[in-house]
Amino acid sequence: MVEAPSPELARQMEPVRQAAEAAVAAVPGVTSVSVVLTAHGPAAPKGPAPAFKVGGHPKPQKAPLNPSGVARILAIASGKGGVGKSTVSSNLAVALARAGRRTGLLDADIYGPSQPRMMGVSKRPASPDGKTILPLTAHGVKMMSIGLMVDPAKAVVWRGPMLMGALQQMLGQVAWGALDILLVDLPPGTGDVQLTLCTKSELTGAIVVSTPQDVALLDARKALDMFATLKTPVLGLIENMSTFVCPDCGSTHHIFGHGGVAAEADKIRTPLLAALPIDLDTRLAGDSGTPIAARGGPVAEAYDRLAARLVEGGMAWVPGCYGTSWGIMRCDMGIRGMIQDFKHWTAGITFSSLRSSPRKDQLPVIGIA
Ligand SMILES: Nc1ncnc2c1ncn2[C@@H]1O[C@H](COP(=O)(O)OP(=O)(O)O)[C@@H](O)[C@H]1O
Ligand SMILES: [Mg+2]
Repeated sequence: MVEAPSPELARQMEPVRQAAEAAVAAVPGVTSVSVVLTAHGPAAPKGPAPAFKVGGHPKPQKAPLNPSGVARILAIASGKGGVGKSTVSSNLAVALARAGRRTGLLDADIYGPSQPRMMGVSKRPASPDGKTILPLTAHGVKMMSIGLMVDPAKAVVWRGPMLMGALQQMLGQVAWGALDILLVDLPPGTGDVQLTLCTKSELTGAIVVSTPQDVALLDARKALDMFATLKTPVLGLIENMSTFVCPDCGSTHHIFGHGGVAAEADKIRTPLLAALPIDLDTRLAGDSGTPIAARGGPVAEAYDRLAARLVEGGMAWVPGCYGTSWGIMRCDMGIRGMIQDFKHWTAGITFSSLRSSPRKDQLPVIGIA
């Protein structure tokens, strides 16, 4: 049997077939011979893989956007850009994964996605059926970003409804699988993405990142106010770029001021979860695609402590509400809010009837078991 590369070549190879037949027939002892030419045609065209189209207006939805299998969604927010939300999100995600939690990271900064660079992934996620996308995995974290779906050199020029549609897709059409926690790296400010996430999904809570300087805190307060309005619990604040230790002389500098976030946390009676230094290795690690939390050292340990703190839980904070020494909940919502809450108490309705208020038996809110 002579195998030709294609049916067309097989036709041209008829003389070869005849020569082969003659050559074998001439071998002493051969009584009969039959040479056949075969050819494999080109593989049947499979058709292009169904393309996953990202963007478009949101679809009407009844149930919350929470992907099934994802136990908790935690938003990382700030008022201002450039204060370190994405850096904190990627490092915290890596630290949680290192602590053995099944962790996902959703980059919801649609206009300025940072996570592909910070987590070191650039491959376009596969969509075998054109309806769901498979998240990528980096440093033990499942991740998804709009930056993986669009040309990185092109600006995303979308209005609000398109942003909402994209967020809906990234929550609902990504095969997140079973996760203990999904961190959402939010864009700066108090816009459409925040509003959609807080109102269309059930968030465990939000963490607000700020630098200590007044101009950042001004905006952080707006983010805090937005979460209070939307009844999303703020689990705590993080002061990023808190201190700078001079690598030459070892002296400590407070480039962006000091203690501003701690004072704010104290004022609104919300935990200060971490104060992270401004650190060259943190920046270099983020730019190189391997977050500092994956590399070890003092900053990685700070992220491990932050992750451990979240895992241990016990931070069931309601926006503006806090336990007082006489053991009842007070709210910083002004007199009206207090009276409303008082009515809830006196009417015997538990706080669980308020969306923002976790039931006692659900405490701690973010024990990420
Ligand atoms: N603690 C830190 N030390 C040094 N550089 C940092 C730190 N936190 C963030 N950065 C750097 O600051 C820039 C902005 O941080 P990023 O996380 O992108 O902020 P955001 O997401 O709030 O816009 C990035 O270049 C990042 O590497
Ligand atoms: Mg960012």
